[in-house]
Amino acid sequence: MRITFCCTDTASEPWLQGLRAALPDAQITLWSAGAPAADCAVVWAPSQQFFDEQPQLQAVFNIGAGVDALLKLQLPPNAKIVRLDDAGMSVQMAEYVCHAVIRHFREFDGYEADTRQGKWSFRKPRARADFPVGIMGLGVLGERVARALSQFEFPVNGWSRSPKAAEGVRCFSGADGFKDFLAASRVLVCLLPLTADTRDIMNRKTLSQLQPGGYVINVARGAHLVDEDLLALLDSGHLGGATLDVFRSEPLPAEHPFWKHPKVTVTPHTSARTLRSESIAQIAGKLAALQRGEAVAGVVDRGQGY
Ligand code: NAP
Ligand code: GLV
Repeated sequence: MRITFCCTDTASEPWLQGLRAALPDAQITLWSAGAPAADCAVVWAPSQQFFDEQPQLQAVFNIGAGVDALLKLQLPPNAKIVRLDDAGMSVQMAEYVCHAVIRHFREFDGYEADTRQGKWSFRKPRARADFPVGIMGLGVLGERVARALSQFEFPVNGWSRSPKAAEGVRCFSGADGFKDFLAASRVLVCLLPLTADTRDIMNRKTLSQLQPGGYVINVARGAHLVDEDLLALLDSGHLGGATLDVFRSEPLPAEHPFWKHPKVTVTPHTSARTLRSESIAQIAGKLAALQRGEAVAGVVDRGQGY
């Protein structure tokens, strides 16, 4: 088995060492232009040249959960595209989203401002029932986030493409269920893959359907959100705030209004990071399963786009 490693913005040596330790019988090399043909690839943001030179690949392991950037390229026709399936990301995502929801619900940003002024001032307790959280995307990450939020006894709504049932989650699905899902939610969390169907899904029309005082948490992809529409609804008072981890252009440009907006919290695409050891263990396990002819989780449906 020949494996080629082609990951941009990634320190390659620790990955190569880890992959070699986990797959001692494989020949694992760092890709460079003109490198010999491999059977499978481990990639993050590879160039089109990489795939043009490796059309024989049988499997491509993406070291992230989202494959929107990968699917824009011309991919080897017979390769299975396999994305990370949790690999330590879901608990990070649950921490991030619970933190953002609780920070908003308990008004911790107000207490932080009070601290700077040496001010001792209670805020009235608010009712969880008034803060239903709607999660768009009930996949590996969305389902874990829903579970974590319901542990804190927030009412949780979930929306997915196909119908689902999850304990403690009011489930909605498809285009037919979207309007009711939005109307039932005050806090909106985006955990959808970026596809033709989900691009720009958080816009003036959809965000206006959230309950008044709505709060937006985008942890999926920047292109899910129409930035100007969010800003207009924050300024009109219909929305109370937003926590944003992902942006149309990353790093977020210095002049972008999100940086200085008093109701917006920005983090640098860090809500759920790829963890090297967990990811290598998952890739090694899946490679072994594929060699035995078994099915593995996380194989991308190229037609659906995720
Ligand atoms: P996943 O397991 O594939 O789940 C995707 C969910 O979205 C599924 O429930 C799916 O519905 C639903 N969905 C897809 N298209 C839809 C549509 N048109 N209408 C309604 N629901 C739709 O993906 P995941 O592992 O949870 O990851 C989700 C996304 O998170 C990734 O694609 C990536 O962009 C993002 N992400 C961000 C970070 C970060 O650090 N910010 C880290 C990791 C991942 P079905 O269940 O019916 O198929
Ligand atoms: C990160 O954004 C990922 O898709 O894994």
